Amino acid sequence: MRPPSSVSRRAWLMGAGAVVAWASSPARALMAQMDGSAAASTDLNALIARMTVEEKAGQVTLMAAAWAGGAANALNPTSPSRASFRQQMDDVRRGHVGGVFNGNGAEMARQMQTMAVEKSRLKIPLIFAADVIHGFRTVFPMPLAEAGSFDPELAERTARIAAIEATAAGIDWNFAPMVDIARDQRWGRGIEGAGEDVLLSRIMADARVRGFQGHAGLAAPDAMAACAKHFAAYGAAEGGLDYNSVDVSERTLREVYFPPFQAALDAQAATIMASFNELSGVPATANHWLLSDVLRDEWHFDGLVVSDYTGDMELIAHGFAADAREATKLAFLAGVDMSMQSGFYMEHLPDLVKSGEVPMARLDQAVRRVLALKAKLGLFDDPFRRIDPSREKTLVRTPAHLEVARDAARRSIVLLKNEDDLLPLPRQGKTIALIGPFAQGQRDLVGPWNVYGTDADAIDLLTGMRAVAADPDAIVAVDGSGVDKPIRGGIEAAVAAAQAADIVVLAVGESQTMSGEAQSRTDIVIPAPQMALAGAVAATGKPMVVLLRHGRALALHGAVKDAQAILATWFLGSMSGMATADILFGLASPSARLPCSFPYESGQEPLYYAHKNTGRPNPPGPRVAYKAHYRDAPNAALYPFGHGLTYGEIVYSAIDMGTGRLSAGGELTVTATLRNSGRHEATEVAQLYVQDITASITRPVRELKAFQRVTIKPGESREVRFTIRREELLFLGQDMQPTVEPGKFRLWIAPSAQAEGVSDIFTLA
Ligand code: BGC
Repeated sequence: MRPPSSVSRRAWLMGAGAVVAWASSPARALMAQMDGSAAASTDLNALIARMTVEEKAGQVTLMAAAWAGGAANALNPTSPSRASFRQQMDDVRRGHVGGVFNGNGAEMARQMQTMAVEKSRLKIPLIFAADVIHGFRTVFPMPLAEAGSFDPELAERTARIAAIEATAAGIDWNFAPMVDIARDQRWGRGIEGAGEDVLLSRIMADARVRGFQGHAGLAAPDAMAACAKHFAAYGAAEGGLDYNSVDVSERTLREVYFPPFQAALDAQAATIMASFNELSGVPATANHWLLSDVLRDEWHFDGLVVSDYTGDMELIAHGFAADAREATKLAFLAGVDMSMQSGFYMEHLPDLVKSGEVPMARLDQAVRRVLALKAKLGLFDDPFRRIDPSREKTLVRTPAHLEVARDAARRSIVLLKNEDDLLPLPRQGKTIALIGPFAQGQRDLVGPWNVYGTDADAIDLLTGMRAVAADPDAIVAVDGSGVDKPIRGGIEAAVAAAQAADIVVLAVGESQTMSGEAQSRTDIVIPAPQMALAGAVAATGKPMVVLLRHGRALALHGAVKDAQAILATWFLGSMSGMATADILFGLASPSARLPCSFPYESGQEPLYYAHKNTGRPNPPGPRVAYKAHYRDAPNAALYPFGHGLTYGEIVYSAIDMGTGRLSAGGELTVTATLRNSGRHEATEVAQLYVQDITASITRPVRELKAFQRVTIKPGESREVRFTIRREELLFLGQDMQPTVEPGKFRLWIAPSAQAEGVSDIFTLA
């Protein structure tokens, strides 16, 4: 080992424990005064000035944790560099890695951080990243489902708890929120985002960033830097096929796919992840326009841009870079500061800089962004501030966190249908046959993209229902079918159970491996063996409630579609079974709304409410000749965005827009009356939609502009009041500048994107 530079010599000579070495390390000395102000950049520059080009390349290199059994390797078996932990520790010692991700807990982090701050030449702390997509050990509903709560405070609360738990296990940086708009339900990654709508996605992006990062500054021990991903338009993959090409107009990027990223940045998201896909011929990972012109020059983002997993390496397969060296150069010069998992930056940047193909100034800029993030996270003050095995044990899965998980799950369940008020079910006096592959067992509960929570810790349906029902023995469970394979004798057993019961609860849908990354489907239906089961059970004539388990909107058919009651229960996380039982038995009333449209048929995808009119629009309903309508499916959603029933019965009336005129600098106040004429209290999500009827750029048939959750007692009425301003009507004109044109606008206050609710026309002066 070579003696380090003079500043760190003392620490090196001391040869003491990690913290002692750290306390007198060069990085610490230089950072001591660091407070995020102007002085900070001077300090960082001084540190950068001491770094070799290899150490710089190391800082911009992020690798999956190689800790034995580490989550990252299990998740990504195709990882190109599956170093042993010993090799990885050696890389840390040599300063060849700036951070690791998806590791395993505080003990791993402690060992690695000790190596970094005790044994590496400059003693720069590592940053620990992870995918904490919907909770850590306490698992919350998958983000798409949670978006259906239309409740940003809830999303912020669950993100905050995720941060409290994850930071206790040593995690500094979260690869979330995923803010990709998803309008094609064949794509499997819709589960990670907030669905098809721009406003809802913006609001959820904002809430989640605030939740992860907290309000006490990033240096707080329980703050976790957020990463808005995947930039950009990853959800617009052709054919809904994951990783596929994207070719959307700049207008669509700016009006649809960019706004959630802008919302995340407005909420101070510290980092952004480049997406895997190409955008009109240029992969996002090497897209200078996207990562530099738009992100830096227009939006003035000065945080860190990280590639996705081997995104730079994939430039070769895209046919955009000839080899690893060129891929490195293209990604780095386009604006990707830190490379995830390929190891390309470590391998090729030193040489690219030496040859002059990559300016040292660009390398210094990227290194500065990594160091600035570490500094903001407080790692230079105390590299161990989030590494505390005792906190890790006490702060996770607390009763309070699990109670929030239960509440969040209840608020994510959507009541799609409830004929003859079959729901809520009585808690006693009836026998129930709980049938289907999702009826019982520790599987398919937490959902995709959960690295740290497990099904084993989650509550299944049978357990939840038995806990909530007055008579647990009145519930019998029968699988009846596997997810995509029949069970011998399964249907017969299920039919017998149904015949012997008063009510059937049928739990069918998708397993958790059927959505998530690389899990696109061409036909988004419930697999045939389950449909056979549903048909046979329905034929008994017993009242039937369908509980869907799913990671996306599904095309519902046959006995499932025709069931008297249907609940969309997604993947709800740790408290899945309890929350579903609460809703089934009426301990809580459903209040969530669909964040994505359910089609009649898979072939309608992409399907979203905010589409444009054609020159030959077909009104919803039967097919009219030579109008935009499929031969074999309605031109509408079976269950549209925003749809969701309650146990009450809400009637919309009395829209009032005053003069109905909105002046340039003014506001328009709109009110409507919502009456609950049902027998149960209800929380309604009143949605305000607008259509700009004529404009120099055609506008969607409806756009969500606001929503409000209102709780209304049976027999009571509540007024909802919204205010519309001119800014909310802006769109990009033909010159791509924001504009709004005088004219007429239709406005609805309605219970879904397809419902009439109440509507009227106002004029913008
Ligand atoms: C995903 C990212 C994720 C990364 C690290 C990739 O495959 O696209 O969303 O953050 O892996 O786990």
